[in-house]
Amino acid sequence: MKCNANTKITGCKLILVPYEKEHVLRYHEWMKSEELQTLTASEPLNLEEEYQMQQSWREDDNKCTFIVLDKEKYEENGNNEIDGMVGDVNLFLNDEDNPSTAEIEIMIAEPAARGKGLGKEAVYCMMRYGIEELKLTHITAKIGYSNKPSIKMFMNIGFQEISRSDVFEEITFKLNLTEDRKERIKACSAPYRIDRYR
Ligand SMILES: CC(C)(COP(=O)(O)OP(=O)(O)OC[C@H]1O[C@@H](n2cnc3c(N)ncnc32)[C@H](O)[C@@H]1OP(=O)(O)O)[C@@H](O)C(=O)NCCC(=O)NCCS
Repeated sequence: MKCNANTKITGCKLILVPYEKEHVLRYHEWMKSEELQTLTASEPLNLEEEYQMQQSWREDDNKCTFIVLDKEKYEENGNNEIDGMVGDVNLFLNDEDNPSTAEIEIMIAEPAARGKGLGKEAVYCMMRYGIEELKLTHITAKIGYSNKPSIKMFMNIGFQEISRSDVFEEITFKLNLTEDRKERIKACSAPYRIDRYR
């Protein structure tokens, strides 16, 4: 998405930066994992296709993609983004009938980085970005039946099941961004700061 191309979000344990060409190689390594392909319902791509995908996401105004950096690892390694990369978080504005609804996707790809609060913080920061910058009123998430950690995380945040697909073995969850909810997201995403990226 062009509107987040120069946006950097700094939270407590993480930094979100736009998905750039130099991130593709590491991202591609992650996506060779069959486990991650299943959990994120992704098709395997070769490296060339991965570069094309990154470029098309960057150009597409309906796709807002960020790489999640573990702030500690990033700073430990002299602010090296590649060393700090642990996953990605995205908002897809795919619903033509409801332009203020977006689907959120989260992946903490590095197994050693899971269970430390990075996934939850990334989702809260992304929801705040969606509310304040994209003026979203609803957020959805699609999660596989067997993905218990992700189901638990989204339900704890307040997402509610709205439908199931036995064909895709997937549950669709939705969060209505009421004023109370927006306040909670603001509190849970703090300290949240937007700076210019590069
Ligand atoms: C699901 C995922 C995003 C969670 O991120 P994470 O950084 O590991 O999780 P966090 O440490 O932020 O924990 C957030 C919540 O997730 C839930 N959770 C995390 N790990 C869990 C586990 N192993 N079992 C059960 N619940 C778990 C908990 O509810 C936790 O909240 P709590 O600590 O307040 O109880 C991450 O494990 C992941 O990316 N997995 C692979 C890809 C994937 O499944 N993506 C989602 C596709 S829909």
